[in-house]
Amino acid sequence: NAGSLWGGRFAGGPAAAMAALSKSTHFDWALAPFDIQASKAHARVLNKAGLLTDDDLTGMLDGLDRLAADVADGTFGPAESDEDVHGALERGLIERVGPELGGRLRAGRSRNDQVATLFRMWLRAAMRRVALGLLDVVDALTAQAAAHPDAIMPGKTHLQAAQPVLLGHHLLAHAQPLLRDIDRLADADRRTAVSPYGSGALAGSSLGLDPAAIAADLGFDAPAENSIDATSSRDFAAEAAFVFAMIAVDLSRLSEEVIIWSTPEFGYVTLADAWSTGSSIMPQKKNPDVAELMRGKAGRLIGDLTGLLATLKAQPLAYNRDLQEDKEPVFDAVAQLEMLLPAVTGLVATLEFHTDRMEELAPAGFTLATDIAEWMVRQGVPFRVAHEVAGACVREAESRGIGLDELDDETLTGINPSLTPAVREVLTVRGSVESRNAHGGTAPDQVRRQIDVVSAQSADL
Ligand code: ARG
Repeated sequence: NAGSLWGGRFAGGPAAAMAALSKSTHFDWALAPFDIQASKAHARVLNKAGLLTDDDLTGMLDGLDRLAADVADGTFGPAESDEDVHGALERGLIERVGPELGGRLRAGRSRNDQVATLFRMWLRAAMRRVALGLLDVVDALTAQAAAHPDAIMPGKTHLQAAQPVLLGHHLLAHAQPLLRDIDRLADADRRTAVSPYGSGALAGSSLGLDPAAIAADLGFDAPAENSIDATSSRDFAAEAAFVFAMIAVDLSRLSEEVIIWSTPEFGYVTLADAWSTGSSIMPQKKNPDVAELMRGKAGRLIGDLTGLLATLKAQPLAYNRDLQEDKEPVFDAVAQLEMLLPAVTGLVATLEFHTDRMEELAPAGFTLATDIAEWMVRQGVPFRVAHEVAGACVREAESRGIGLDELDDETLTGINPSLTPAVREVLTVRGSVESRNAHGGTAPDQVRRQIDVVSAQSADL
């Protein structure tokens, strides 16, 4: 059976349904370039250990290079008879260099240490791509913040009117978690950069092969300390799946807001035509589908993480075939993010903000009540009293159907004698945001400083 890596002890081949169940080439083919790269490194350590002559090494590397070229241009692919990418590539090597030389490569390695190594290599490259895509979203948010330095919007808690904030402050509040996600990817990479190669099936190699040499050759920081752990643990994959799910959740929070903001009731933003869709029946519709797909796919990425954790749970040491289920959820999460990140970047970069309307709505719902209370505290009034007094101002304005700034001087001093007309200096949304000038606050100086910090951080990545 060409492409089979086992069979010596079997009198017959697998049943058709067994082979169909076992097959993984339809997804693990993504590992093929890494498999060949690692095979070249393995050939070099076999040579160093005296298990492959210099001529054989040259022939082997040449065969692997030709195989890599054929994989890259699609001339070589998995056959019906191939169980997995590893078997398919051994068949491809033997087709190119013959069974005598091609049959020497597998010494001292197992698919168990191979697949764990290749999955780590694939994942490290994927995490870098995702980090770069996410950085584009951060840059789009920062550019929008910088383009609207003075814009004021209603700040909300519980989705109820809370306090006015700068639009830039709000947008950067979405950039911060994304920067932390990028940092999480970099941190996860540290733990992923450990090579299982040389662990064999579980117990390590007896052939004098050097795991440190192969680790270095493949760009890993170090070889694994324990061959049983190296072939059976997948916490590196679960950690990446968590960060991917966290990214999706963070972008889903942003998406939810874009969806709300683009309703006529809010009217904060208009979406660019290029990043929205229409309706097949309602001619007036312009729908926020990018944001909705982002929100929806967050559920899918949470599922990818949850499924992977459930697969890992309760597996005894060491390798079990259950582990073949580790790759698809992680591949899926990355494929979804690679579609989503450019679209979310485009959506954010082209949002047209209606800043006049946002500023007009900013005082609605008595959002300056906290400013009254804090102004009184600055006049020496205990906050407990100030809170009560500001609350009474809200009650009075609400009953008259007017804003806090429309209460006349007499009414204010009537509510509390310390409420002199000077309080009016904080009864504007601009006065309110400008007063919140401590580190991390919403004052324009603070938001400008934040933009500098975020830009410097993203330039460093
Ligand atoms: N295709 C397997 C995986 O993805 C690797 C092969 C290990 N198979 C085995 N019977 N030991 O995990």
